[in-house]
Amino acid sequence: MVDLSVNLNGFKLQNPIMTASGTYGYADEYDDFIDVSKLGAIVTKAISIEPKKGNSGERLFETYGGMINRIGLENLGIEEFISKKLPILKEKNINYVMNLAGSTVEDYIKAAEIAQSAGIKAIEVNVSCPNVKQGCLEFGTNPNSLGHLTSEIRKIYKGFLIIKLTPNVSDIESLAKSAEDNGADCISAINTLKGLGVKVEITPDKKIKKTFVQGGLSGRCIKPVALSMVKRIKAVVNIPIIGIGGIANIEDILEFLTVGADAIQIGTENFCHPDITIKLINELTKIIESLNLESLDELKRKLRDE
Ligand SMILES: Cc1cc2nc3c(=O)[nH]c(=O)nc-3n(C[C@H](O)[C@H](O)[C@H](O)COP(=O)(O)O)c2cc1C
Repeated sequence: MVDLSVNLNGFKLQNPIMTASGTYGYADEYDDFIDVSKLGAIVTKAISIEPKKGNSGERLFETYGGMINRIGLENLGIEEFISKKLPILKEKNINYVMNLAGSTVEDYIKAAEIAQSAGIKAIEVNVSCPNVKQGCLEFGTNPNSLGHLTSEIRKIYKGFLIIKLTPNVSDIESLAKSAEDNGADCISAINTLKGLGVKVEITPDKKIKKTFVQGGLSGRCIKPVALSMVKRIKAVVNIPIIGIGGIANIEDILEFLTVGADAIQIGTENFCHPDITIKLINELTKIIESLNLESLDELKRKLRDE
């Protein structure tokens, strides 16, 4: 039996395959396709204190090797998540992480308090949200703001604290370090890249129709950026890293493990292949067996020449 388990600084996964926030619902939405309890963990869609309707208009744009989304943090709010979705996760024995979004530090603090009292074991803090009190600059673009946010959440929340970094920065190292220094247990990276989808169509009556969708780019096309970010983060932090960005097959997973990821999340690829996660768990097991190894930890060491 191959041991695929991962111990992320105390948060245990039966295997390293997680699903990325916003691409997997809140609980058992993929139940028709796979047994969700077989995954390392699912990460919920971002949850805020109040329910949100999200953006109106075009929200998705298909692009070469990926997609652009501007869903705008549509979600059911933390109270409804706890009353309606959490019981499903518990009943079905699904390991989960709650992804948190907010517009002020106070929002995050309040959400962290609720998560703490509801017994939620792990949260992933989405720092790609605009900080309304600081000119709407994302929390995750300034190491001081990120450090402050992390330490305020850490004071309240005793569970497993993941800070999810945005790639829309030049100095990812300072941000990762700031999260670690202020109490994060783990870093996940990356969130989507800022992108613009443009479509120009000539209509049958010879008019020009233009569509613009400004949002977050995800999918296979972002993998090289994500690999680079994970490698740079690994060089400066000691806490575990969850690699995210364009993962679609077993080779991608090996690449992320090689550059320093301890676990991985699959996002956009779930939309094309809803059973991709289970396939990859099986393929990972076979790779480890084919190398005559017994565990994921041994594979990681081999990939990293340790
Ligand atoms: C439709 C959609 C919604 C998303 N919503 C969230 C979200 O609510 N919170 C978050 O932290 N990331 C969100 N993300 C980002 C993903 O979790 C992930 O970081 C990103 O898509 C890169 O991974 P991928 O290339 O495998 O999709 C969303 C991505 C997509 C495509």
